[in-house]
Amino acid sequence: MSKKTNQQWGGRFSESMDGFILDFNESVSFDQRMAFDDIAGSIAHATMLGEQGILSSEDVTKIHQGLQQIQQEIQDGKFQWSAELEDVHMNIEARLTDLIGLAGKRLHTGRSRNDQVATDIRLHLRGAIDDMRGQLRQLMHGIVELADKEYDTIMPGFTHLQSAQPVTFGHHLLAWFEMLKRDDERLVDCRKRLNQSPLGAAALAGTTYPINRLRSAELMDFDKPCANSLDAVSDRDFAIELCSVNAMIAMHLSRMAEELIIWNSVQFKFVDLPDRFCTGSSIMPQKKNPDIAELVRGKTGRVYGDLMTMLTIMKSQPLAYNKDNQEDKEPLFDSIDTVTANLRAFAGMIPHIQANRDIMKKTAKDGFATATDLADYLVKKGIAFRDAHEIVGKTVALAIEKNCALDELSLEDLKAQNDGIENDVFEVLTVEGSVNARNHLGGTAPEQVKLAVANARSYLDEV
Ligand code: ARG
Repeated sequence: MSKKTNQQWGGRFSESMDGFILDFNESVSFDQRMAFDDIAGSIAHATMLGEQGILSSEDVTKIHQGLQQIQQEIQDGKFQWSAELEDVHMNIEARLTDLIGLAGKRLHTGRSRNDQVATDIRLHLRGAIDDMRGQLRQLMHGIVELADKEYDTIMPGFTHLQSAQPVTFGHHLLAWFEMLKRDDERLVDCRKRLNQSPLGAAALAGTTYPINRLRSAELMDFDKPCANSLDAVSDRDFAIELCSVNAMIAMHLSRMAEELIIWNSVQFKFVDLPDRFCTGSSIMPQKKNPDIAELVRGKTGRVYGDLMTMLTIMKSQPLAYNKDNQEDKEPLFDSIDTVTANLRAFAGMIPHIQANRDIMKKTAKDGFATATDLADYLVKKGIAFRDAHEIVGKTVALAIEKNCALDELSLEDLKAQNDGIENDVFEVLTVEGSVNARNHLGGTAPEQVKLAVANARSYLDEV
């Protein structure tokens, strides 16, 4: 006697699944997150089937009502998820059949879980990208406002983490903005590419029913149907792409985190992070640790790991659908959740950073940061840059010997290096003179920071 092992596919089976294997095989514990996407996809599918005369309008109405009720049950936390029904798709379909009988069993006409799951993921990622962009833009907004406030705050600019040339803090912050702006554009681009409908690809080869794929795509706000049924049900490159954008965002946030951690140290004291974003030490009472920035930096590891997992799951899979792809969801969701949390933490913290302007400015003078300005000054007096470089090198050596800053050398001392040097040299040797002189598009001068702030704001005003 045949024992029906699974409501949806048990027909040819004679024994039920081993308990451990049932758990091994199930995905409902994590793919129930796509329940509303699954319902949206089914509503579109049923509507299209009705319009094509494949389902009766009575069936379509029942299916719509049943799915709406299920949506409500899920929202109210009343829906009974069952591992025996394997995944989100079969859980919802089984409940629909409980509620509306035969019509529920007809919903799966001309469809397979293969095109169904591919559709659900794309719908889900579309929403996730919109949410992530909202969070990202909030952070970008906070950065712009801080940059505006600190547009003329002078700090040391670094290369090799050695004092290089003075920059404005606003300019530094807007470098962060540019990184995140490209990430925002990458998210938009990724959304564009994934916004195609797999529905109608069915298991792999399409279906014998007179379906209208353009219509179901339109009903779900997809730009168009995927062009090839085999590709539609199998590739997860769009999800890998999102994980890769997320890895890029996490990488950028970790660079910001690293700088905040360094700047917040007692040795630097460039910034004070708000207390509510720091923790204390259980043994050293004096400590205020930048844990939140460290966590943002540390979580980058798992976001990179998620990308590697996704790439490896897809690697070597023959066409078309393989169950390997069930493994895509956990890393994908983890990548989204982790990056969203990182963005949220920084969006909350960064607008409240206190810049210690005096310390920043004082240290901007250290390390002969205006040496290049002196070389440029000499070039303007007609000396070739390489010769000017040599003269300034010697001038720095003299300042080291005298244990003073460049602008603390006497005019006499400076003239001894090159007699073209005159009293106006002291204007370029100051940190203010140095940043003000870099007054061109993309430069660090406060005037340019103001312009860049305006451009950044108008980017954020666009949708
Ligand atoms: N839970 C499955 C997944 O996530 C749904 C598709 C299953 N398809 C199949 N033919 N077994 O990929």
